[in-house]
Parts: sequence; C-alpha cells; structure tokens
Amino acid sequence: MTDLSVDLGFLKLKNPVIGASGTFGYGLEFEPYIDLNRLGGFVVKGLYFSPREGNPPPRLVETPSGLINAIGLPGIGVKRFSEEILPRLQKFNTTIIVNVCGENNEEYASVVEFLDKYDGIAAYELNISCPNVEQDGLCPALSPEATFSAVSLVKKTSSRPIIAKLSPNVTDVVQIALSAEEAGADALSLVNTFLAMAVDIETRKPKLSNIYGGLSGPAIKPIALRMTHQVAGRVKIPVIGMGGILTGQDALEYMIAGAKAVEVGTANFIDPESTVKIIEELREYCQKKGIDRIETLIGTLQA
Ligand SMILES: Cc1cc2nc3c(=O)[nH]c(=O)nc-3n(C[C@H](O)[C@H](O)[C@H](O)COP(=O)(O)O)c2cc1C
Repeated sequence: MTDLSVDLGFLKLKNPVIGASGTFGYGLEFEPYIDLNRLGGFVVKGLYFSPREGNPPPRLVETPSGLINAIGLPGIGVKRFSEEILPRLQKFNTTIIVNVCGENNEEYASVVEFLDKYDGIAAYELNISCPNVEQDGLCPALSPEATFSAVSLVKKTSSRPIIAKLSPNVTDVVQIALSAEEAGADALSLVNTFLAMAVDIETRKPKLSNIYGGLSGPAIKPIALRMTHQVAGRVKIPVIGMGGILTGQDALEYMIAGAKAVEVGTANFIDPESTVKIIEELREYCQKKGIDRIETLIGTLQA
C-alpha cells in the first residue's frame, strides 16, 4: 500500500491534492461528481465578512491553454457560510480550508475572528493576492511590508494555522514569501492568477467588463512551478504549489520541485473529477516506481 499522506507540520493531509479556492465552490457543488472524502482537502471560495456580488459579466474568457477570470470575489459572507454551509461540510472526512478576503487588514482579521468560533475548519488561506478586485490600494501580496502587516495581524487574531497565498505579479516572489514567513505564516500557497487581458478585435473592446483579469490553467504552469521552486528553496515553512495542474504528472513536478502539497484549480472546470483522477495517478506513479511514501519525493529535484 502506498502512503500518500503528507505532513504540513500543523496539519496532516491524507494525500497532497487540494481543490483550489474559487474553482471548487463551497465543496458541496462537487458532491454529485466525486467522493469529497477522498481528497487531501479543499479550499472554499474566498469569503469577505459581508455578502458580495462580484464584478458584472462578461467575467470569464478562454485563451490558449488558459482562462482569464475577473469574477471579483462574490460570496455569501461569514454569517451565511457558518449557518448554511459549514454544518454540511462538517460531515466530510477531509481537510476544509477557508479562503479569507478583506478590503483591508481589519476585515481579514474580522473574518477569522468570526469563523474561529466554529468547528470544522482546519486552517485559513489568506487571499492577499487576488488580481481582479478594485481595492483602495493594491493587494497586500504585491509588497513585502503590506504582506507583513496583513499576515501578522491575522496571525495574532487567529487560533488556527494561516496559509498566506502569494501573487505571481511581483518582481521577486521570494521577498514576499520571506515577509509572510517572518510575520508568522504557518505555510505559503502559490500562486494566485497572473494579471492578464484579452481584446475583441471586432468591437475593439476588452473581453472582460473589468478590462483586466487573472490568468490560470496550463498556460501558467511553467512560471508558477519556477516560483514554487524558488520559494520552497528559501523558506522553512511548507509550500503548497499550484498553477495549471491538470494531471498527476503536473502535481509530481510541483512536489519534486519542493511543494509539500498542491492545489488544483482550473482543471475542475474541464473535468470535475480531476482531483480524484490526479490522486489515482500519483498512486500509480508511486507503485510503478516502488515508492512507499509519497513524502519522500518532496524536494528531490536533481539540479
Ligand atoms: C474562476 C476562478 C476563481 C478564483 N477565485 C479565487 C478565490 O476566491 N480566492 C483565491 O485565493 N484564489 C482564487 N482563484 C485562484 C485559484 O485558486 C488558483 O490560485 C489559480 O487559478 C491557479 O491555479 P490553476 O491554474 O490550477 O487554476 C480563482 C481562480 C479562478 C479560475
């Protein structure tokens, strides 16, 4: 029997495959397609304190090997989440992570403070990196100082582990990663989407109402993989890698490059069974290679 479990230190996952925020609804939407108990875990859609509409349509456009979204983080807010969704998620035997959003640091903290009262959440993933929401300033993950202040405030407020989700839209992602670690993050996840756009040449209008959106899917994988490798080589806390993972092979590339676990996003829109298929492909690879514990593969890149 291959042991697919991975230990993040503060959290043990039954396997390294996690559904990525914003592509996995509140988890329940995937119940008709897959057995959620088989997953390493999933991250629910980003939650602000209050309900939000998101951006007007059109807010999704396909590009070669990619998807640009400017959804703008619609959501039901923490109160409805705790009353209507969380009790239904508690029956599953998998790791549930809440993606936390905020228009400012105080809002991130108030989301966490509210949710801390409820059982059934293993960790918070701090979305300091969404590229397609209008905020007064820029999202915190674009600067080491703003990352430090957001992560340290939330860490102080939370009784649960904090995973800081980093942006690829920076010159030096390692600097931001080190700031998040210094501020007390228990783990890092990377990357969020790449700021992008598409133009309709007939109307000469942007294809997205928001003009810009975030690019995800296979188009970003080589860059996201490079960033994951760079960050995993510099921080001591665990790194969760993502960006364009469609197959077991993609997930293995991230793990060999240093990721302790992976998140699967856009693939869920192509095939809602992607996560469980990837888990099976990881098992087959390990069996074929005579690997008893998948953990032994992490960070084994022969450079
Ligand atoms: C439609 C859509 C919605 C997303 N919503 C969120 C979100 O609410 N919070 C977040 O942190 N990331 C969000 N993301 C980013 C994904 O979680 C992930 O970081 C990114 O898509 C890269 O992974 P992928 O190439 O496997 O999709 C969203 C991505 C997509 C495509």
